[in-house]
Amino acid sequence: MSNVARPKIVECRRMPTEILKRLSDEGKIELVSWGGKDGQGQAPATREWVLENIEGAWGVIVMLSEKVDQEFLEAAGPSLRVVSTMSVGYDHIDLDACKKRGVKVGNTPHVLDDAVAELTLTLALMATRQIPSASRLVREGRWAESPWSPLSFCGPSIKGKTIGFLGFGNISQSLAHLLVPFKPSRIIYTTSKPKPFDITSSDFAPLADGSFPTDRIVISNQPEIGKLAEESDVIFVLASFNQHTKHIVDEAFLRRMKPTAYLVNSSRGPLVDTEALAKAISQGWIAGAGLDVLENEPNIPASHPLLQADCVDKVVILPHIGSATNETRFAMAELAARNILGGVGLLEGMVYEV
Ligand code: DGY
Repeated sequence: MSNVARPKIVECRRMPTEILKRLSDEGKIELVSWGGKDGQGQAPATREWVLENIEGAWGVIVMLSEKVDQEFLEAAGPSLRVVSTMSVGYDHIDLDACKKRGVKVGNTPHVLDDAVAELTLTLALMATRQIPSASRLVREGRWAESPWSPLSFCGPSIKGKTIGFLGFGNISQSLAHLLVPFKPSRIIYTTSKPKPFDITSSDFAPLADGSFPTDRIVISNQPEIGKLAEESDVIFVLASFNQHTKHIVDEAFLRRMKPTAYLVNSSRGPLVDTEALAKAISQGWIAGAGLDVLENEPNIPASHPLLQADCVDKVVILPHIGSATNETRFAMAELAARNILGGVGLLEGMVYEV
């Protein structure tokens, strides 16, 4: 294949997948990879590097950290056919601008549902069971200061509680299945795109008498989000981020929550008004929170309100690692690569196109 016809593909992180390297070795694509200072290509590509290197690209693989906007599209130029993001979320991509230029956009749904659901459940359990403060006590060699006592480090169980979901798509539904064995009494949700939910597909055995344990859980749509706030003991924020969902959890929402309730967000930081959340926790409107995402991440200084003494022991904050299982990240990388190759015509079609 001559150089002219060889599609240029830019990867803004070194992708843990063989297929692109193989095609590049075989001379079928021109692969330009961000290496970064350490040569490993795992740190985010700098904007300068991206803008400089995407000129003439047919396809660009991006992560959440790469903003695909007018400037990006202009820097790539008219050759660009496809942008493939190694994420299910695509709020970092200007879809309208891509559409106007005929640039396809691919993402990596489904393969991460279970991993994100597992991590989200972990956050809920950590927050409700006071793990941040309990584990800090031991790590700091201070266990003897708070030996076993009837009510120390107590928090609510999931059993018998009302669990609320803001958004009830694939990840929420995977999480709902994980929650069933914990025996909540109700699962209520609000969703903009209703999807059929079959609780009986939960992957666990029926009881000895043959009945299905989920019979005891009431599952219902609660479109009034204020009511969902009032009734839930744990609220999972699992909606996608867009102009309609920004700060869907705001001061008014938090004030309607129970003082014993917990908020868990593992979708996108700006769905929750962070300032209001810090107030809600420090002033006791709610009991605590589990967060895998935060507004303005990853630039979260130690002076952040949620990291101050009046909040820090009531929140679990993780650095956006919901999908970080080995299996999931390899599957996401493979899909992102297949989407790009499908988009430039080297495979038959994209696997997922937004
Ligand atoms: C996504 O895929 O959008 C997650 O936030 C990162 O795994």
